Amino acid sequence: MSVFEAFIRGIPKAELHLHIEGSLEPEQMFEFSRRNKVDIPFRSVEEVRGAYAFSNLQDFLDIYYQGAAVLHTEEDFRDLALAYFARLKADGGVHAEIFFDPETHTNRGLPFSIAVDGLLAGMKEAETRYGITSKLIMCFLRHLDEASSFRTLQAAEPWLHRIAGVGLDSSEKGHPPSKFARVFQAARELGLKICAHAGEEGPPDYVHEALDILHVDRIDHGNRALEDDALTRRLAKEGMTLTVCPLSNLKLCVVMDLKDHPMKRMLNLGLKATCSSDDPAYFGGYVGDNYIRTAEAVGLTREDIVTLAKNSFTGSFLDAASKAKHDRCDRRPRRRELTNEGAGGPTALKSRTNFIGAASSGETVVAIRPTGTSAGAPRSGGPRSQMKQAKPSHW
Ligand code: HPA
Ligand code: ZN
Repeated sequence: MSVFEAFIRGIPKAELHLHIEGSLEPEQMFEFSRRNKVDIPFRSVEEVRGAYAFSNLQDFLDIYYQGAAVLHTEEDFRDLALAYFARLKADGGVHAEIFFDPETHTNRGLPFSIAVDGLLAGMKEAETRYGITSKLIMCFLRHLDEASSFRTLQAAEPWLHRIAGVGLDSSEKGHPPSKFARVFQAARELGLKICAHAGEEGPPDYVHEALDILHVDRIDHGNRALEDDALTRRLAKEGMTLTVCPLSNLKLCVVMDLKDHPMKRMLNLGLKATCSSDDPAYFGGYVGDNYIRTAEAVGLTREDIVTLAKNSFTGSFLDAASKAKHDRCDRRPRRRELTNEGAGGPTALKSRTNFIGAASSGETVVAIRPTGTSAGAPRSGGPRSQMKQAKPSHW
């Protein structure tokens, strides 16, 4: 693993835009279809992967809802969540706020409890097993009507103390946030956090509506806000978090080349962008891959990576004390993640890398810090053999 990759994978981060149904890998699709005796229209994993060629959001959604139909039991949802958290752990993830789509499951006859109880069990186990904290966000499908979203909110009532917020996903064009004004108002009155997909394919007006009508705490995607200078300035001024998903944008043709992705521009404009994977099993990469491929494509510096990682915590729905704890943490990868270092990475990152060791007891790590940040630890600047080893306090 190169220094560049180790730095990115090792930096503690939160993932704020992840549809758990979109983490269903083809292998799991076969496993669950066998387990539940459900037919799927594919004969092999390769055939499934071959079908993942999308021209737009709707192309993807058609196959994504079909895939989710193999999920039948609480155990399926628990296993799905645990498999995701294992991958997040490998990418330096320490916190996740995961979406699920209750209507996708209730509309095919599953009781509301199956998905939510299964996911909550997986989230609890992930905290024990991997030390990863998480929150659950319930999304309304915007291609359905308002009555369906109200039924969903009502069905969720017994679980509301374990659901952090509500979101709005599925087919964006033709389904503006204003269609769901009343259900989001009801959710806000229940004390739930609010997010909405806006400006992925839909126009900047949908981002305006998400802000002014739904009163969102976070915008999911938000790419097309950049078409409106005043809106962009407003988002920056208000410190509104955008949960940006570069590989999703590439796969769904929101951008035609990752080199054209606006992530760098967003950061330069002072937008509070974060980096997430959206539906990693369908879009070709988990959160670490999203950071790495975007950094390579648009030349993110180590400072940019640190900003994205920090934004992922400040933009989270964690309480102030947890955010402060994450903010204090040392952003450094573990030593084992630095084996085979020096294999590559973009010049922007490699040229500015320096190493800083920090001594304390416990697990072996090597610190890498952005140039110019204070370490609170002796600088070695030398090869790995000269580095001191430490365990950052928050690990
Ligand atoms: N966009 C909108 N809805 C979704 C997505 C997405 O990328 N993934 C799952 N539901
Ligand atoms: Zn999404």
